Amino acid sequence: MNAAAVSGRHLVLVGMMGAGKTSVGARCAAALGRPFVDTDALVEASAGMTVQQIFAAHGERGFRDLERWAVSDACASPTPAVIACGGGAVLDPENRRRLRDSGFVVWLHATPEVLERRVGAAEARPLLRGGSTAVTLGRLAALREHSYEAVADATVDTTAADLGQSVDVVLRAYEAAE
Ligand code: S3P
Repeated sequence: MNAAAVSGRHLVLVGMMGAGKTSVGARCAAALGRPFVDTDALVEASAGMTVQQIFAAHGERGFRDLERWAVSDACASPTPAVIACGGGAVLDPENRRRLRDSGFVVWLHATPEVLERRVGAAEARPLLRGGSTAVTLGRLAALREHSYEAVADATVDTTAADLGQSVDVVLRAYEAAE
């Protein structure tokens, strides 16, 4: 593909924890020669705390406030970037509006079993603590499905795909839309 021909909007990746947003996003950014922005990393840098520490000190609500700021900051960048959003960022209507207004949004999708395998140790994700990780992932995915649908310009199923295949499909969808 001709990456240089692609310009304009941000390429935004949304989807559940373990869907591959960070790994696919970093590879897409390298292919496009664009900055890569991860909203969780922005939140952590601004707070000087890890996501777990923020949840422990300020609860999910405190985290979502910081995440809203991070989404806004990432979307406001005049340089088109590849933006990987934390899995729950789409729950906020203001986030959905900003992402849609400034980016081409790809929903990375996978089954709960595959998500579970990819997230590895659940400790790093406060929402996965306790209980069965696959069950929690399935429940959250069902609750969030319509928010992902509402924000997405394209959906890419990464269940059976390896990293390189997912990157190719995302870049093709993005290039076709620009
Ligand atoms: C969350 C997903 C995490 C992180 C936080 C909450 C969620 O990001 O933002 O633990 O609500 O799904 P990843 O999707 O990058 O794991």
